[in-house]
Amino acid sequence: MILKNKKITLGVTGAISAYKALELTRLLIKEGAEVHPVMTRSAAEFITPLSLSTLAKNPVSTALFDLTGESRISHIDLAQSADLIIVAPATANIIGKAAGGLADDLLSTILMAAKAPVLLAPSMNSQMWANPIVQANVKKLEKAGYHFIGPAEGDLACGYKGKGRLASVEEILEAAKEALIAKDLKGEKVLVTAGPTREAIDPVRYVSNASSGKMGYAIAKAARRRGAEVVLVSGPSFLPRPAGVTFVPVRTAEEMLDACVRYFPQSTIVIMAAAVADYRPTKSYPNKVKKDAKSLSLEMERTQDVLKHLGTLKKKSQTLIGFALETDSIEENAGKKLKEKGLDLVVANTPAGLDSDTNQVTILSRDGQADRLPPLPKDEVADRILDRAVK
Ligand code: CTP
Repeated sequence: MILKNKKITLGVTGAISAYKALELTRLLIKEGAEVHPVMTRSAAEFITPLSLSTLAKNPVSTALFDLTGESRISHIDLAQSADLIIVAPATANIIGKAAGGLADDLLSTILMAAKAPVLLAPSMNSQMWANPIVQANVKKLEKAGYHFIGPAEGDLACGYKGKGRLASVEEILEAAKEALIAKDLKGEKVLVTAGPTREAIDPVRYVSNASSGKMGYAIAKAARRRGAEVVLVSGPSFLPRPAGVTFVPVRTAEEMLDACVRYFPQSTIVIMAAAVADYRPTKSYPNKVKKDAKSLSLEMERTQDVLKHLGTLKKKSQTLIGFALETDSIEENAGKKLKEKGLDLVVANTPAGLDSDTNQVTILSRDGQADRLPPLPKDEVADRILDRAVK
């Protein structure tokens, strides 16, 4: 829970997308953050301070010289005690003011006095975004260490189509986490596998398993947040593709093997979270199998163990992490996989983690250490695994 107990000053400026700041506030609160909203005068033309303060559970600051407000929480407090400052939506005007060093209202003053990281989510007409002056301002701010998320392409409220839409609230949330987190995986190249594989019976049927891909996707996102370059090799999954990672979709165990072998040499950390099929039908029928026969048996053959194969290719400088899905003698069986597959760490879990948002795992290392974790959201499990990889 990266945002838990974090103080976030949320600046809202006057764009039609200001209404999305309400949903963003709700999500920030849900993640355990403390939100202090600040609105510009024009933002208050689009949404009411009452809605924002109700969702934030904190008063909305608007004016620089509001003496009652100042005695409660001053503009210097809003700037300096914040762990993160987000401006969403950020208009061309606030971007221009920040880049030009102007501080003529509460929000621009906060930005100038800020010690915390600042995340700007631009929202404006596509012509305005393309304006060379706006672009120069963005470059200047990026050089000064400001973070940006978006804008996205699409239909704009002004009737235009193009780049200028506020990034989605989920993307802003992810960027907020990224801005807050220590970049302890910078320089690392992390290969993650996720999801099930599908082994064809005929053109419309397959053998697969209940993996959703959630664990692997959570690891890929966490590694990317911590500064790594990430390749995510994923079997079929309904999850949205994580932003900022090289996404390699595969279907079968064989395709997963090929993709892993391709990306393995340049990877420094490999985490095999995929639930690869151990067997596939010996024969895949070219046409749909008709239900003519009374019964049907499928002959199956072993697939290659991807992780075991990578273990034979592994160099000393690489860290190889596998999962072990067990129903009994969990640590003993997981320990066997650690040795047999030449791993540095193995993450033991049970079927309770399949297709679930939480997972209870034990991380075993080669030196016999066992970290027995309580049930945790998969995002948190991902970070704990990466903590052990860093160690
Ligand atoms: N794995 C793999 N290739 C396979 C099967 C498994 O790379 N064909 C990897 C999984 O991604 C996981 C680890 O091996 O990281 C252990 O997978 P698991 O299903 O727990 O065990 P298996 O090795 O398949 O052994 P068993 O099914 O007999 O428990």
